[in-house]
Amino acid sequence: VTAFDPTAVDVRRDPYPSYHWLLRHDPVHRGAHQVWYVSRFADVRAVLGDDRFARTGIRRFWTDLVGPGLLSRIVGDIILFQDEPDHGRLRGVVGPAFSPSALRRLEPMVEATVDDLLRPARAVGTMDVVADLAYPLALRAVLGLLGLPAGDADAVGRWSRAVGRTLDRGATAEDMRRGHAAIAEFADYVERALAERRDDGEDLLALMLAAHRSRRMSRNEIVSTVVTFIFTGHETVASQLGNGLLSLLDHPEQLDSVRRRPDLVPRAVEECLRFDPAVQSNTRQLTADVELHGRRLRRDDVVVVLAGAANRDPGRYDRPDEFDVRREPVPSMSFGAGMRYCLGSYLARLQLRTALGAMAALPDLRLAVSPNELVYQPRTMFRGLTRLPVAFTPAG
Ligand code: HEM
Repeated sequence: VTAFDPTAVDVRRDPYPSYHWLLRHDPVHRGAHQVWYVSRFADVRAVLGDDRFARTGIRRFWTDLVGPGLLSRIVGDIILFQDEPDHGRLRGVVGPAFSPSALRRLEPMVEATVDDLLRPARAVGTMDVVADLAYPLALRAVLGLLGLPAGDADAVGRWSRAVGRTLDRGATAEDMRRGHAAIAEFADYVERALAERRDDGEDLLALMLAAHRSRRMSRNEIVSTVVTFIFTGHETVASQLGNGLLSLLDHPEQLDSVRRRPDLVPRAVEECLRFDPAVQSNTRQLTADVELHGRRLRRDDVVVVLAGAANRDPGRYDRPDEFDVRREPVPSMSFGAGMRYCLGSYLARLQLRTALGAMAALPDLRLAVSPNELVYQPRTMFRGLTRLPVAFTPAG
């Protein structure tokens, strides 16, 4: 029995065999670097619903790692690193921008963006789904949510990726150097956007400026929130789109049924989220001794819950390892649970439905490389492909 290590190359390529082992033999497992790994659905839900499994310790660990400066100041303030009461206060401020009624205004934009991005590909019959559709769509959608111009997507995407890499367990010294350089430009951009904005719109930036005026949010927190949302809002959707489309391409008869029955798209999206989630794990640190599944966990221990494993728990799902777009949907752990349940789930589903629906409709859609040429990005927090070349019959 070896210690589970999500940074190991073979686990990164395919974590599911390790998850099986954990689910079956050691559901609360002491893995590499003394970290606890929790895999069963009920245990994951219990951890995510219990505020003794907290986040501020993780912030301290990370800010120590990056050292003093703008990067730790800005990223240290992000909602994902706060516990109560700051977490609840920030969620209360930004929450209204994520309600279905507020997000409905983004639907036409998401549809037009998918159309726009697929146009050049339709003429030639080939594309790289990751670079040509997933990233630009996800970036433009999150910029729309914030109320920032879609034309800024390239620069913003570059800064965001550099900052995001510093948050990964596998970050190198070079990643840290690039992150420090990028945050200065990123913060400058957000400050300029704020200076030009009024607080009377429906978008997230306007909402936060209003909260700042009524002293519910500091200026630094606004900058942090913009940076986080751009990062978490686009890396997740972009990765999930690639993972989901690959699951469909791996099961051509199901891709075909989605093409013939567009009403299956929402179910297919839920199954893609369950089967291969973009966010594989969420980390907490204990503020007290706790007993979980018969194991004694100590205050200050680091605990990682594995959504990718919980989604394959045979105690919750029939035939958990079968991809089945006709499955009666049973909610998965892919958007988390409890007080930190993903704020962006509606926006994510909107993009996934629109993009996967449009892709599935392309005639004779298939993978354009052999499956063993596909490579996952070198990250542990998010699971996503570096590229996904596909081919189909071009229009006209
Ligand atoms: C939280 C997954 C898209 C914003 C979370 C969490 C997960 C998750 C698992 C819980 C984190 C934890 O418990 O520590 C995903 C996936 C997405 C996606 C798989 C795409 C398929 C988005 C989008 C946005 C977003 C589009 C916003 C633009 C957030 C925020 C939180 C969060 C702000 C933190 C909530 C809090 O701390 O209270 N997401 N997400 N996500 N997500 Fe998402």
